[in-house]
Amino acid sequence: MRELIILGSSGSIGQTCIRAIKEQNLDIRVKALVARSSKSIKDDASYFKCPYLLTEGKSESEMRSFLSSVSADIALNGVSGSDGLLFSTILIDLGFDIALANKETVVLGGEFIFELAKEKGVKLIPVDSEHSALYNLIRAHGDDVERLIITASGGPFVDRMDLSGVSLEEALHHPTWKMGKKITIDSASLANKGLEVIEAGYLFNFKAEDITVTVHRQSIVHSLVKLRNGAIYAQLSPPDMTLPIINAISDGNLNLENVVQPLDFSTSFSLTFEKWDEKRFRMLSLAYKALEKRNAYPIAYNIADEVAVNAFISGKIGFMDIPSIVESVMSHDFEHPVRSYSEAKAMMEKARMLSEEILCDGFKNS
Ligand SMILES: NC(=O)c1ccc[n+]([C@@H]2O[C@H](COP(=O)([O-])OP(=O)(O)OC[C@H]3O[C@@H](n4cnc5c(N)ncnc54)[C@H](OP(=O)(O)O)[C@@H]3O)[C@@H](O)[C@H]2O)c1
Repeated sequence: MRELIILGSSGSIGQTCIRAIKEQNLDIRVKALVARSSKSIKDDASYFKCPYLLTEGKSESEMRSFLSSVSADIALNGVSGSDGLLFSTILIDLGFDIALANKETVVLGGEFIFELAKEKGVKLIPVDSEHSALYNLIRAHGDDVERLIITASGGPFVDRMDLSGVSLEEALHHPTWKMGKKITIDSASLANKGLEVIEAGYLFNFKAEDITVTVHRQSIVHSLVKLRNGAIYAQLSPPDMTLPIINAISDGNLNLENVVQPLDFSTSFSLTFEKWDEKRFRMLSLAYKALEKRNAYPIAYNIADEVAVNAFISGKIGFMDIPSIVESVMSHDFEHPVRSYSEAKAMMEKARMLSEEILCDGFKNS
């Protein structure tokens, strides 16, 4: 029996996990649920007969005290956005291993979070499908891995040459994945892939120049690794987050059988790989820059994107203003070391303030 806390239980990741536990008779016991304000959490908590916390209006110490009152083998961090870093920091402090869906934890906290986890003897196991694939491929091939190759579905605009008039509705229509709003918009601009490149750089200690992104429309190959001897290995499964979520929660401790329907090689199907377009998808180019520069640049990238995406969702700016805002914020000085949550928080505040200033000064619907 694996004991689990689910943070972000009302979201896409949280609900996918809950569905799998309910439907697949997995040997997992849910010990607590956390969300921000979704009242539906009560139904899930009563199903699992566990306590829950809604964090809206709660202080950091109230959240810490709730989490410290629960015992579990692992916590799934499926909280969206930069709040996820605070939860990861608290969970690490309390000694919980983390199945990490919240990519912001690594992008915003990459400069210190792994050191902190090492100090506390805590494991951070990636849930993102690409990183879950890389995690397992690197475990199998170790130091022979020389290059990471991350796949991207390409999002809804892979074939659209002019992105200037993109509407919110169009950006929210992802061809393969069903996810929360922020990550869906980020998938359309390839900022999500950008965050994943940064995430991979920190998680696996690879330089930006040793990470390649390839457009793979079918979302079946989740990532690949190139070995020194020239061989390339890949992980394949249908586009369904259930597998990476349950794999991370299990961490080798559950007896898992066909968590998802395996691909059927007795039928015909095609897999394609294409180069991504640097001119149209500036958010991905900017992410490479942020990873090259490290320090607080990934924070500038992530926070400026978060502010710009919210402005796009509320109709204040156009889709192509998102990379312009991020680029402007990243042109400021973020050459600061980030050794703790409080230093990360200071850099997040700086990036947020700059993003909002730029937003106020120059961007009206374009
Ligand atoms: N969805 C995917 O397929 C996918 C794949 C890979 C990685 N990820 C990553 O996983 C994370 C979650 O994504 P998602 O698509 O599941 O997002 P989502 O559907 O928007 O759900 C977000 C969840 O986080 C909770 N939350 C947000 N702020 C919170 C706070 N301050 N305190 C407590 N709970 C809070 C929300 O609670 P309320 O509902 O109460 O607001 C909700 O349960 C993101 O970092 C995303 O990049 C997602």
